Amino acid sequence: MLTQDQLKLAVAKKALEFVPEDAVIGVGTGSTVNLFIEELAGIKGRIKGAVSSSEASTARLKAHHIPVFDLNEVEKLPIYVDGADEINHHLHMIKGGGAALTREKIVAGVADEFICIADEKKYVAMLGAFPLPIEVIPMARSYVARELVRLGGHPELRQGVTTDNGNVIIDVHGLQIMKPVELEETINHIAGVVTCGLFARRRADVLLLGKQDGVDVLR
Ligand code: 5RP
Repeated sequence: MLTQDQLKLAVAKKALEFVPEDAVIGVGTGSTVNLFIEELAGIKGRIKGAVSSSEASTARLKAHHIPVFDLNEVEKLPIYVDGADEINHHLHMIKGGGAALTREKIVAGVADEFICIADEKKYVAMLGAFPLPIEVIPMARSYVARELVRLGGHPELRQGVTTDNGNVIIDVHGLQIMKPVELEETINHIAGVVTCGLFARRRADVLLLGKQDGVDVLR
């Protein structure tokens, strides 16, 4: 029986097969991506460098002497590799468990191909059991929370967390997300919301799913 960490390592290794030669690639955030960064370090001579989605990943990339580019210096990212908190069968995701959702969504938006690396526990029929993270401008947090209650959720301020952009995170419990694209748009239109952790308009293109019997490649 493989542990969740062993499944994360398996998908991190598999993702190397998708890394093109001599390119700048997008790198996400989280424990699965941390394992990917370790693997990437072993082939760092084959890439130009990375654009990072968080200060934490930037520090890890730099510790391995992998060049980190500012997104504004880069016109093209052939791939973006990141984890997810939940992913459904349409490859829509909930992300932001690590509070890096906004930069993740920006870098993912630039990339030609989003490669999601996840273990089988994250693969669900319906999104919403994992509380939906939302990055919010601090002065708007009470207003946004009230609007989220109107949408049927139970918002909770993530204590002691400030994002890399200086904002707060509200985690919304109790949502059964049947229409991820519509809900992403609705929440993103609330004034004060920077972005929500639904990645449905920009879903993953490829899911590398770590299972007991190997890694499935789903598109
Ligand atoms: C960070 C994220 C991560 O991708 C997500 O939380 C999954 O993390 P992990 O690989 O540690 O399970 O969205 O903001």
